[in-house]
Amino acid sequence: MCGIVGAIASRNVVPVLVDGLKRLEYRGYDSAGIAVLVDGAIRRVRRVGRVAEMENAAAAEGLSGFLGIGHTRWATHGGVTEPNAHPHVSHDSIAVVHNGIIENHEQQREALRALGYRFESQTDTEVIAHLVHYHYQQDGDLFAATRRAVSELTGAYAIGVIAIDRPQQLVCARMGCPLLIGLGEGENFIASDVSAVISATRRVIFLEEGDLALLTRDEVKVFDRDERAVERKIHVSDVSLASLELGPYSHFMQKEIHEQPKALSDTIEAVLEDGFVAGLFGPNAPALLPTLTGVKILACGTSYYAGLTAKYWIESIAGIQCDVEIASEYRYREAWADPDHLVVTISQSGETLDSMEALKYAKSRGHKTALSICNVRESAIPRASELVFYTRAGAEIGVASTKAFTTQLVALFTLAVTLGKMRGRVDAAAEAGYLDDLRHLPGSVQHALNLEPQIKTWSERFASKSDALFLGRGLHYPIALEGALKLKEISYIHAEAYPAGELKHGPLALVDSDMPVVVIAPNDSLLEKVKSNMQEVRARGGELFVFADLDSHFSESDGVHVIRTPRHVGVLSPVVHAIPVQLLAYHAALARGTDVDKPRNLAKSVTVE
Ligand code: G6P
Repeated sequence: MCGIVGAIASRNVVPVLVDGLKRLEYRGYDSAGIAVLVDGAIRRVRRVGRVAEMENAAAAEGLSGFLGIGHTRWATHGGVTEPNAHPHVSHDSIAVVHNGIIENHEQQREALRALGYRFESQTDTEVIAHLVHYHYQQDGDLFAATRRAVSELTGAYAIGVIAIDRPQQLVCARMGCPLLIGLGEGENFIASDVSAVISATRRVIFLEEGDLALLTRDEVKVFDRDERAVERKIHVSDVSLASLELGPYSHFMQKEIHEQPKALSDTIEAVLEDGFVAGLFGPNAPALLPTLTGVKILACGTSYYAGLTAKYWIESIAGIQCDVEIASEYRYREAWADPDHLVVTISQSGETLDSMEALKYAKSRGHKTALSICNVRESAIPRASELVFYTRAGAEIGVASTKAFTTQLVALFTLAVTLGKMRGRVDAAAEAGYLDDLRHLPGSVQHALNLEPQIKTWSERFASKSDALFLGRGLHYPIALEGALKLKEISYIHAEAYPAGELKHGPLALVDSDMPVVVIAPNDSLLEKVKSNMQEVRARGGELFVFADLDSHFSESDGVHVIRTPRHVGVLSPVVHAIPVQLLAYHAALARGTDVDKPRNLAKSVTVE
């Protein structure tokens, strides 16, 4: 969480910092700040609230300078207050921005207090500012002082550091949190992700774990954890500026929901060209995938629900065992591991700390091979995996995941069929059928998107409710879970999901005329069972909102409202049924007037435990 940005240039960097922070706001948005070197002094502006508030304050102060750092915060250590907002400054002479968590901050704080340092915040970051200051006092070398300071830290960090008397230097370091360097003409930048620098440059260097770098206007020197000068590869980012703008939409979430046909087409393009081949999962996959006998999926949040859906596909299509675990649970238990079970880490961002740590833990327990399914190239989780499948959803900015989720689903479906083919369970005719299913999917998703006006009408009725129940069975139970998660995270309506067959074992007690019950009821082999479960709700006065397929043979009746998605699309039906629950949550949130793209207390990229 938290986004950092920094710039050294021969122009005013304040607009660069502010623009960069706005693009990084998805990483945290409870307070923001910048520190700029102005006429031999570090001038700092911080505000609780959004970057725009800090921007106004900086404009009012006429802040302008050629060197600066900025930060947008998602509070971990210390409440949401201005003194806790970054940058943190030591003795008016060192300023630091930090993303991550310093685990030994208590000990360092004690040691620094004993040296006479006074703390103005409750953050772990202030420790870094004072530590750098302490070492800087020794020999006036900012880079060396930063290196010494980070060597005394345990935990995770991406930091940017400036000093009052070093107008030509911007120092940065990373360990466990993303950080890249943007290379400009006579100006250079640091940022948590490429969106923050893309208006200035597309040429970026992704720092590796333990790297430190010294930036001047004309030069970038990178050193690895062993203090050796290293050359890191320069990437030319293909992120389009349009993908970072709202265009005609009101919210990024709405835009991203509507981008799903294209996101899916882009993600399956290679599958449609080459068929279900191991090479889709990276150059090592043809050698590694055939030796594997089971799958262990690790993920958090929406990505976990993608994993739950995949379990159905992997066990039925590939015919091998598949376990799915919440990463933060898995990493702290004495997990049994079969070395021949493929570890699949699903992460939109590729940097979720719990997922990353779960992956490392799985490796330490003996799993031989790891595959990551990720939407962000060169992020930490794919880099720690032998195999990778990059979804091509494009930048996802709304905190609630939508297009990342459905593209994860098709990636996992592709994995299931590929494994099934390798194991002789998917013959040429079946493969052709699955390819056909994939080919038609973007069209069916578009059809589901066209239901938006009807779903909006429903959502107005949800807006006044305080609770909602979501039901699904089989492949669509994870979609019920995802629907409940979407609704609660952006509209703040309490929502729970159950497998419809479990209703009678407890949740039925909650059902009355005040509790809307959303049912995912596609025309599959479980439809008759779902219908019985719906009767159980109706008999208790519950009002049903049913997402059925065109061919589900359902009719509306008193207390039973039905919206029909396209004809049943077979095994890929969960992808189509994800759309209406996303739209329902979006419009319910709109009706309640919440901040759809930046729901309270949440952040998109969760790099803390
Ligand atoms: C956060 C986001 C969710 C996301 C989850 C996992 O909670 O708000 O949208 O599903 O993290 O993120 P990942 O990047 O690992 O998929």
